[in-house]
Amino acid sequence: MNNNMQNDVESVLLSEEQIDEITSKLGKQITEDNKSSKKLVLICILKGSVVFYADLMRKISIPCSLEFMRVSSYKGTETTHQITMLLDVEKKAVEGADVIIVEDIIDSGNTLSHLKNYIASKGAASVKTCTLLDKPSRRVVNLTPDYVGAEIPDEFVIGYGLDYNERYRNLPYVGILKREVYEK
Ligand code: IMP
Ligand code: MG
Repeated sequence: MNNNMQNDVESVLLSEEQIDEITSKLGKQITEDNKSSKKLVLICILKGSVVFYADLMRKISIPCSLEFMRVSSYKGTETTHQITMLLDVEKKAVEGADVIIVEDIIDSGNTLSHLKNYIASKGAASVKTCTLLDKPSRRVVNLTPDYVGAEIPDEFVIGYGLDYNERYRNLPYVGILKREVYEK
C-alpha cells in the first residue's frame, strides 16, 4: 500500500459523469414521487453515503429535512450480521414523516432491512430506501430498494464515499479495488 490511491484501482466502474447522471435521475424521481408529502426526511447513513447524499439532496427540488445515522456492520471486505448503532435519530425527527434512507451500497441487505424496521418503529408515515449501488447477487434477506442508482457485480468497490478500512472514500469516482490490496 502506498499513497497513490489510483494505483489500487483495478478499473473505474462509475465515472464522475456517470454518477452525475445517476444522481440527477434519482433526484428527479424522488421529487416527482414526493410532491404531496407534508414532511420529507432524508436520512444519510454515515459514513459511506456522505458523498452520494450531498449530491443527491441538491437534485431534489422539494423541501426536505436532513438527518444522519451511523451504524457499523462491516469489517474489511466481509459483512457481519451484528449491527451496532453508533449515531441515532430522534423520534420526533421522523415521527409522521415520509422517510427516505440513503445508503451507499446494499450487499447482504442486513443493514438496510434492519434500519427500515427501526425507522418504521419510531412512527414514520412511510419508509423508503435509496441506494447508489446494489449487489443483488449477494442478498441474504428479502429487501428491494425503492431507488437504485446502479446494479453492480459482486466486486469490492471503493471511492465516492465507499471505503476499504477507511481508505479511498475521497476518490471522486467508484472503482473496483484490486484484489491484491485485500488478499494479502
Ligand atoms: P449489508 O448490510 O451487507 O447490505 O452491507 C452494507 C454495507 O456494507 C454498506 O453500507 C457498506 O458500508 C458495506 N459494503 C458492502 N459492499 C461494499 C463494497 O463493495 N465496498 C465498500 N463497502 C461495502
Ligand atoms: Mg456503509
